[in-house]
Amino acid sequence: MEHTGKPQALEVVILGAGKGSRMQSDLPKVLHTVADRPLLEHVVNTAQQLDPLAIHVVLGHGGEQVKAALSNYDVNWVVQDRQLGTGHAVLQALPAISPHSVVLVLYGDVPLTPLSTLQQLVALAQEGPALLTAKLQDPQGYGRIVRDAVGALVGVVEHKDASAQERRISEINTGLLAAPLADFNTYLPRVGNSNQQQEYYLPDMLGLAVQEGKSVATCLARSELEVLGVNDRVQLNRVEREFQRLQAEGLLRSGVNIADVSRLDIRGTLTCGNGVFIDVNVVLEGDVFLGDRTSIGANCVLRNVRVERDTLIHPMSHLEEVEVGAACNVGPFARLRPGTVLQAGARVGNFVETKKATIGEGSKVNHLTYIGDCDMGAGANIGAGTITCNYDGVNKHKTKIGDGVFVGSNSTLVAPLNIEAEAFVAAGSTITSTVGEKDLAVSRARQRNIQGWCRPGEKNKKD
Ligand code: UD1
Ligand code: CA
Repeated sequence: MEHTGKPQALEVVILGAGKGSRMQSDLPKVLHTVADRPLLEHVVNTAQQLDPLAIHVVLGHGGEQVKAALSNYDVNWVVQDRQLGTGHAVLQALPAISPHSVVLVLYGDVPLTPLSTLQQLVALAQEGPALLTAKLQDPQGYGRIVRDAVGALVGVVEHKDASAQERRISEINTGLLAAPLADFNTYLPRVGNSNQQQEYYLPDMLGLAVQEGKSVATCLARSELEVLGVNDRVQLNRVEREFQRLQAEGLLRSGVNIADVSRLDIRGTLTCGNGVFIDVNVVLEGDVFLGDRTSIGANCVLRNVRVERDTLIHPMSHLEEVEVGAACNVGPFARLRPGTVLQAGARVGNFVETKKATIGEGSKVNHLTYIGDCDMGAGANIGAGTITCNYDGVNKHKTKIGDGVFVGSNSTLVAPLNIEAEAFVAAGSTITSTVGEKDLAVSRARQRNIQGWCRPGEKNKKD
């Protein structure tokens, strides 16, 4: 079927008043997360892409908490005090909907339905009700789609109300439907609750419409996964894995090389250049940018990180709120904490921790070191075991390290401190005051050699 142009005045109603008792949790069900975002936020995001006039969210249990969690969104909150059924829930929203609009009903706990499927449903609903159905291997628990001899929809029968024969029907009600507001206003108030659950069933309005000579259009979801709902943690996990798989496959299609789609978790927004490689067990959170030809090694966790072109993040590294310049090398086993900036060509090696530190162009901090509150120039070389002592127990102090500085291994740099360009700090030094440009600073006990000294053991033998 061809549909052109945007439908007139679409409004969306999202149902989320259910308590979700099977989640075994105090958190309202729609606030449980997929990829670090509440289920409801996923649904609202998809709804927004339909460009509706308004989005109404029906809340009950934990309503205030839900509103607070989605306070950034422009939605109309509707309260359903008692959960008397899906039909009753939609009824609460109807007064707020502007006349002549088409209304799309979504579920706050069904987050994976693609935009294209919803667009198709809305297109079908321009003249009358339209329902999204799905064919399931195991339709147990769902409302079944009852059709007549020529295949036209007769109505939806809930599993609990269905006969043995009806329970053999594999086509189910996804719950997602759309219709002109006039149809909701005509049929929904007439839906009763004389059924097994004594609830006002939303799909019953379709049966009423058919009885009065209206036809109800249906469209079949492309797969079961599109309409996967969350009632318990097993289903939540299934939705999470499906969401992650979809994201990873999208990246593969856009040219990102991913070692294993089932071992990459993206909980936020990932932007990639060309030729990016991501190895197994990588977790990317918040906003992550990976430039051209960057590579992320196995078991790395990156949160709000920008990695410029040609940089290699070696395995087991943890980066948070960090900017890594071009052609850098990080890790394995590096921990870059918030405020770390690596300029082009810098190297930070194993068991190095950095925090609020700029590592200048081409500088190297290769082993077993802590660099905090530090401003380091270009071409510096920081030996193994160097520690910036940035904290006196009360305040944090800065260490400034100039271009081309060499710090020997096992040095202790007591901040506030300034080590000027090209200076050299001898290994094992404790530095507490300024080292001038090109100076050598040595601060350690001078070596004494005692000649003819006997080891304790050897002396004892002679006795
Ligand atoms: C519903 C459908 C069923 C369909 C299934 C698909 C009805 C009567 N049944 O059944 O045909 O196969 O979804 O998953 O519609 N809600 C409210 N207020 C209420 C009741 C529910 O907001 O008073 C919300 C829930 O938060 C949830 C959604 O509506 O997001 C569906 O409710 P739920 O109780 O899960 O319906 P099902 O019994 O699964
Ligand atoms: Ca359900």
